[in-house]
Amino acid sequence: MPFRNSSSPAWDPLLGAAWKAWEQAHAPYSGFRVGAALLWRDGPDGRLVAGCNVENAAYPVSLCAERTAICAAVTQGLKAGRLEALAVVTEGATLTPPCGACRQVLAEFADALPILLVNRHGRILHDLRELLPHAFTGRDLANPGSPEAKHGH
Ligand code: THU
Repeated sequence: MPFRNSSSPAWDPLLGAAWKAWEQAHAPYSGFRVGAALLWRDGPDGRLVAGCNVENAAYPVSLCAERTAICAAVTQGLKAGRLEALAVVTEGATLTPPCGACRQVLAEFADALPILLVNRHGRILHDLRELLPHAFTGRDLANPGSPEAKHGH
């Protein structure tokens, strides 16, 4: 369980990918760049998918890095229940936890999810279950016949 330790070298590829995505952030309005990297169980080595925040002149339309990463992963064919770890990087003075909307989106793809927050000063490890307890998920939809209700996590 290398992702249960915030200083495990298993996080290094995720952090490399997250900082690379951070450089691409489109954040002209807030000036607050965010990079995210997801590791998915896929083949022998897993698959890394990164994202950055993409802001818009119509501010509420802006997308967080965590959600652009999820969208990229789904587009690549990666599936719910196979998400293993998330790293989020910023240059903020404080560590940047995923916003409420992103927590809900992440809960669609994983129950237990180690989430490492990193800035230039330090890091902290959380788990999605602690950041979003009692999440509403597909299991709460009383429609057992739907394919969504069967994805089994
Ligand atoms: N943001 C993220 O990308 N992820 C987070 O976890 C928190 C906030 C972005 C959204 C917006 O582009 C900027 O940070 C300031 O809120």
